[in-house]
Formats: sequence, C-alpha cells, structure tokens
Amino acid sequence: MLNCLEKFQPSPSVPTKKLQGKVAIVTGGASGIGEETARLFAKNGAKVIIADVQDQLGLSLAESIGSQTCTYIHCDVSDEEQVKTTVDWTVKTHGQLDIMFSNAGIFSKSDQTVLDLNLSELDQIFSVNVRGMAACVKHAARAMVDRGVKGSVICTASVAASKGSETWTDYYMSKHSILGLMRCASKQLGKYGIRVNSISPFGVATPMMMNNLFKDKKEFEEMCENMTSLKGISLRVNHVADAVLFLASDDSAFISGHDLVIDGGSTA
Ligand SMILES: NC(=O)c1ccc[n+]([C@@H]2O[C@H](COP(=O)([O-])OP(=O)(O)OC[C@H]3O[C@@H](n4cnc5c(N)ncnc54)[C@H](O)[C@@H]3O)[C@@H](O)[C@H]2O)c1
Repeated sequence: MLNCLEKFQPSPSVPTKKLQGKVAIVTGGASGIGEETARLFAKNGAKVIIADVQDQLGLSLAESIGSQTCTYIHCDVSDEEQVKTTVDWTVKTHGQLDIMFSNAGIFSKSDQTVLDLNLSELDQIFSVNVRGMAACVKHAARAMVDRGVKGSVICTASVAASKGSETWTDYYMSKHSILGLMRCASKQLGKYGIRVNSISPFGVATPMMMNNLFKDKKEFEEMCENMTSLKGISLRVNHVADAVLFLASDDSAFISGHDLVIDGGSTA
C-alpha cells in the first residue's frame, strides 16, 4: 500500500516545463513582478526577452538567467517604434512570439485628487501605463496573427483597476483602462485563437512601491495584510508570477477576457 502511494507522490525536484518551446516578451522585466516572472518563464522552458528601460539591471538579470535562454532589449514602451522593433527582433531571432506579458508600469508622482489633478503627470503615466500597454498588445497580436500563433497576452492591471481611491487619481484611471484594453482585445483576437487576460495584484513590496511610497517593507506588508481577508501570508512577487504562468500556459487554455485578481480577498 505504501509503495502504491509513494508511486503517486509528485517529486518536488522535477521542475515543470509548462512553456517548453515558447517565446515570451516580458515588459518591465528588469525589476519586481516582471523580473520574477522572467525567471519563472525561463525555468519553465521559455526563451525570454526582457524589455525595459533599466539597462544595467536588465542586462545583469538576463546574464544571470543565461544567455541561451534570455536576452535584454532596451525598450521604452511609451515609444511605439521601440515596441515594434522589440517584437520584430524577437520574431526574427526566435521565429515566433507566443507570449506577451505587458507589465511595464509607473506610479503616481503625487497624491493628487481630482481637485488638484496635474495633467502633465497624468499624460506621463498614461504614456506608459495605457499607451505603452496598448502598443505592446497591438504589436504582439500582429506578430501572432501574421504567423498563425495561438498565443497568450497578459496585461498587468491592479486592484486599482476596479475601485476608486482618495488619492493617486492618474494611476487609478490608468489601471481602469487596462481592463478595457484587455476586454476589447480578447473579443477581437479570439477568432485567431489568441487569449488575452489581465492580472490585478494587491500591494506587493517591489521597488515601485518601496521607492515611491513606503520605506519599510515589513510595515508595508503589515498594512496590506490588515486589508486582506486572508491572514498569515503576504503577497510576494512569486505569487504574482505563478498567476502569470498559469495564464501564459495551456493550464488556462479556455480562459480569455478574464481579470485574475490576486488580492487575498480584499476586493471581495
Ligand atoms: N507593486 C505593486 O503593489 C503593484 C500592484 C498592482 C499592480 N502593479 C503593477 O505591476 C507592474 C510592475 O510593477 P512592479 O511593482 O513590479 O514595479 P517595478 O518598479 O519593480 O517594475 C516596473 C518595471 O517597469 C519598468 N518600466 C517603467 N517604465 C517603463 C517604460 N516606459 N518602458 C519599459 N519599461 C518601463 C521599470 O524600469 C521597472 O523595471 C506595473 O504595471 C504596476 O503598475 C504593481
């Protein structure tokens, strides 16, 4: 009996290869959620292209993942030409593009409410979070359609995409747009077999949060935990990367047009 049970125990030492043979672009892949996801995609057998503006970080991350598996490309997503060049380079080098994780984003520069909304700050945040996200979805989808690839596109939204806030109006507005983009793209690309989904994480202690808003990681995580139903666990980048891997792989083969909220029950 024991032998029989032992036979069915999964071996923790065998890594999964859910993306074997796939080619993935990760924007904002030099840091935080993107960095963790780039590592997980590579572990799962994908060729990974990290597209970011932090060259030093991106290059050393690509080197640590391995030059056979991972390449860094400087790509400012707010510039459509740079996005197109990144997608074209990927297809030319690897023959196809299967996964676009459109994740690059920036946070509010100030605490504005609508009464003191700074429109040039709003333009700046929209140029990356909305325009940049749209350019990535557009050029990835074109590459997939052209080659008949039934790919997966995942956009990083946020819990900020589904509720209002006392402050950070421009960021909240930008994240609401991602759900509109994702839903339209999923309707329009379904006929080509391309799936489009988004993820909406709660607060994660990445450089985006820790450099802008909070100084102490422990304090930040305690504050977040006070807002979630789920206790005894803090949201970390690996939890988000696991959700992205699910949406990128065949594990989610019939899921499209879905916003996967990763929030420990906070918005429920
Ligand atoms: N950290 C959180 O609490 C949280 C919660 C919900 C959603 N998000 C979203 O997750 C995504 C990743 O953020 P993160 O928390 O990992 O922060 P991060 O700052 O660690 O990573 C963001 C990355 O995006 C890159 N980037 C910024 N502007 C860019 C541009 N114009 N072109 C290309 N790359 C650019 C940065 O260089 C950085 O490497 C963002 O879209 C963010 O809005 C974060």
